[in-house]
Amino acid sequence: MKAVCIHQFGGPEVLQYEEVPTPTPGPGQVLVKLAAAGLNYIDVYQRTGHYSNTLPYTMGLEGSGTVAAVGPQVTSFKAGEPVAYTGVPGAYAEYALVPAESLVRMPAGLDVTVGAAAMLQGMTAHYLAYTTYPLHPGESCLIHAAAGGVGLLLVQMAKQCGARVFGTVSTEEKAALAREAGADEAILYTRQDFETEVKRPTNGQGVNVVYDSVGQTTFEKSLNCLKPLGYLVLYGQSSGPVAPFDPAVLSAKGSLFLTRPSLFHYIADRASLEKRAGDVLSWIASGQLKMRIEFTFPLANVAEAHRSLEGRKTTGKVLLIP
Ligand SMILES: NC(=O)c1ccc[n+]([C@@H]2O[C@H](COP(=O)([O-])OP(=O)(O)OC[C@H]3O[C@@H](n4cnc5c(N)ncnc54)[C@H](OP(=O)(O)O)[C@@H]3O)[C@@H](O)[C@H]2O)c1
Repeated sequence: MKAVCIHQFGGPEVLQYEEVPTPTPGPGQVLVKLAAAGLNYIDVYQRTGHYSNTLPYTMGLEGSGTVAAVGPQVTSFKAGEPVAYTGVPGAYAEYALVPAESLVRMPAGLDVTVGAAAMLQGMTAHYLAYTTYPLHPGESCLIHAAAGGVGLLLVQMAKQCGARVFGTVSTEEKAALAREAGADEAILYTRQDFETEVKRPTNGQGVNVVYDSVGQTTFEKSLNCLKPLGYLVLYGQSSGPVAPFDPAVLSAKGSLFLTRPSLFHYIADRASLEKRAGDVLSWIASGQLKMRIEFTFPLANVAEAHRSLEGRKTTGKVLLIP
């Protein structure tokens, strides 16, 4: 089968589209014939070695398709069923081996490729809005990169919770998408001072929570946008890692909370995975949650897909089709 592996860390050029053996499922494993793999920013961190894995490494942490074969002791899935998953390496391929406990069944009537678009970013938006800082009606939040993959979903879920939503974006086109998703205010943080743009309409108060996935370039001002006792949820670093930080700053700025969460701790048990995936996929199936899948690349063109994501050219979800 074809797969995309890295043999060294580096730029998009290290992504090798190559022939590898098709795996055979062992005990507890399912062989999935992939219809699509999701591209996520974590793939960039893994490719560059910022998040280090043993090499050679088959890229991709999210996929969907149909069950091709099941290994011994697998009773919960059978050949031909549509499934999706995240958190298991090897999705940039024609086939992937997935532990049965990491798989969820796709709801009837939903295009199977939607699973590869929704699992990682959808469940991330879900835990951020419903668990890390559960938003309530009348509260307010700031969401950075609001037209990105996680961003567009998080904006919709924050509105679903009844919050007032400020979103930052780099272009007018992205601002329009953030507003379409429900953002009350879209701020062009490449031209405007987002701290001022959040403070002015909140009478200098700021917001209850900032969901910050940009990191280096936004972190300090994100803290300034919070009300006393507010939460900074730093869940990514697309602009680079945040510099070492003195916790006394949290006290000085209003007894703030800082957390650095990861999806994989929020779906660590089967019940959490089923709840989050179930909510996200059923909301998409019912039309309550809109997915934007504008960017789809053949798997062989994976380097171009990475360049587009890193170059801030994409909006919503990017899919790779084997
Ligand atoms: N902790 C978790 O559980 C978790 C789970 C999923 C994702 N994440 C994080 O969430 C973030 C979003 O992930 P995603 O896959 O949905 O990607 P994405 O938001 O679709 O793409 C990243 C966006 O970040 C913005 N950005 C700002 N400064 C940037 C820079 N210097 N270089 C590149 N992009 C920059 C860009 O939006 P503008 O052009 O509008 O600025 C860009 O489109 C990433 O940081 C990722 O690591 C974390």
